[in-house]
Amino acid sequence: MTGIDQALQNALQLANSDQLDSARQACQQILLLSPQHADALNLLQQIEFRLHMTAAQQRFPGRLYLEWLEWFHLVRQPTTYLEIGVETGNSIRLAKPPTKVIGIDPEFNIVYTQQTWNKLFRETSNDFFATHDLREVMQADAIDLAFIDGLHTFDQTLTDFINVERYSDENSLTIFHDIFPVSPITASRERKSVLWLGDTWKVILILRQYRPDLQLFTIPTYPSGLAVVANLDCHSTILSDCYAEIVEKFMALTFEEHQASFESQLNLVPNDFQAVEKILKR
Ligand SMILES: C[S@@+](CC[C@H](N)C(=O)[O-])C[C@H]1O[C@@H](n2cnc3c(N)ncnc32)[C@H](O)[C@@H]1O
Repeated sequence: MTGIDQALQNALQLANSDQLDSARQACQQILLLSPQHADALNLLQQIEFRLHMTAAQQRFPGRLYLEWLEWFHLVRQPTTYLEIGVETGNSIRLAKPPTKVIGIDPEFNIVYTQQTWNKLFRETSNDFFATHDLREVMQADAIDLAFIDGLHTFDQTLTDFINVERYSDENSLTIFHDIFPVSPITASRERKSVLWLGDTWKVILILRQYRPDLQLFTIPTYPSGLAVVANLDCHSTILSDCYAEIVEKFMALTFEEHQASFESQLNLVPNDFQAVEKILKR
């Protein structure tokens, strides 16, 4: 057995006994000697993932994001629900009859049984909105509830919001996933970690700055928060008019620069059904 093999065994044992910080250090030392060592890289990724999930569990006690989505369906009873980013169907399945569901995802692979009327589109959200009239697809005038959980870059998430808002009315709600990172590595534009939120968090800063007319609050729910937006205005063109300026201004920002002040932008509310019900009734 070589020295590197022994060091890898040691790192693995540390990881298996939940000594994750020491296991990470052991992997990093191997990678200093052998930067492309596939097993060490793989183990380091697994360790980082477990560290992020543990940090998120500590930061976000209480209800999970799927419990919240189920709750929104229950209390809002939306006539129409749109989901961007469907994947396995784990979140879209929470819609119940008689809600009409539209799902968009270029690579969905549904493994969960769907409970209600639904139309799924295997394409990117941009292609969908460029080629369909959502009112015709939904056979309804507005999206009552939308969940944006597609490509995790801020410019795409902002485009998704602009498109969703065009089909919203004064009673609509839009929910963003993955806007509250607990560590910078998960919040970068380029994917560097198994758990990846991307730079979606920038949308919070953008909406605060460009759309103070929106009601925005954030539920600190595991694993990465849900931002809820109300008071939508289908006639507003501020975001689309300023889109190029916004993208240029926010592209280079890093989460490290904003981490200290970021929470103050989120308008955090308790992770509690009754508290959120009161806010929505105001
Ligand atoms: C995190 S997963 C969604 C998870 C799902 N909402 C849930 O909670 O179980 C993100 C999904 O977004 C999809 N996606 C990526 N780019 C997209 C795009 N441009 N438009 C729509 N969906 C996209 C991916 O294929 C992936 O399935």
